[in-house]
Amino acid sequence: MNSNNPYNPTLVALDTPDLKHALSLAKRLANKVGGMKIGLEFFNANGPQGVKQIVDLGMPVFFDLKLSDIPNTVAAGIRSLLPLEAFIINIHILGGRQMMQAAVAAINEAEGLGYARPMLIGVTIVTSMEDADMQELGINRTASEQVIHLAKLAQDCGLDGVVCSSHEIAAIKAACGTEFKTIVPGIRPKGTSADDQKRVMTPTEAIKQGADYLVIGRPITQADSPEDMADDIWQSVRYADL
Ligand code: C5P
Repeated sequence: MNSNNPYNPTLVALDTPDLKHALSLAKRLANKVGGMKIGLEFFNANGPQGVKQIVDLGMPVFFDLKLSDIPNTVAAGIRSLLPLEAFIINIHILGGRQMMQAAVAAINEAEGLGYARPMLIGVTIVTSMEDADMQELGINRTASEQVIHLAKLAQDCGLDGVVCSSHEIAAIKAACGTEFKTIVPGIRPKGTSADDQKRVMTPTEAIKQGADYLVIGRPITQADSPEDMADDIWQSVRYADL
């Protein structure tokens, strides 16, 4: 984060199937966060038309759809998303090199079609999985080792960064360089409930570790005043690197 040109790194997770509720939250938070994150829960209930209504509010939108399929299908899926003008689109790195390269090629078509190029971000190992899950899947590494391995592979295939746990930011930046983006869920401001997140970090700590974007849902959306919570978070991270 460049303190001379501070930007708001919070992407608020609009985890609801209810379009009206999502629109109302998005409008209330529009000037208090850096963007919105929309996942399968919202997308499956409201489709591209619903997403368009959020995008039309003018905030950057992260489509957390975690695409994974054969290369041709993922590339075609990304092409279909381009008109919605997402700021970030993500895919599973475990889809492999050919799938990632096909996805990069599809993303790179955006500008020729008159759209801003979204960032293409890779999902490493979802944070709900642990070392035992790696063993069960036949992967002979710890979850952390596998995350670094996958981040390097994603970078080699031309992805712009990864979604990762706050505890993996430093190792990923060391392995892939500071320009490789880290998008970090599991963030909890001091004094808020961890909910079902296991290894949490405060917004300030995560930014100090080098996080580029913070994905924050319930601490903001379920606060008594979502606006005040979003404001507090912005103030706490604004000069965190000074
Ligand atoms: O409410 P909370 O702040 O826990 O929401 C975090 C958001 O980030 C949710 O939308 C969740 O699906 C997403 N996410 C996550 N952990 C990952 C990947 C995505 O919590 N590893």
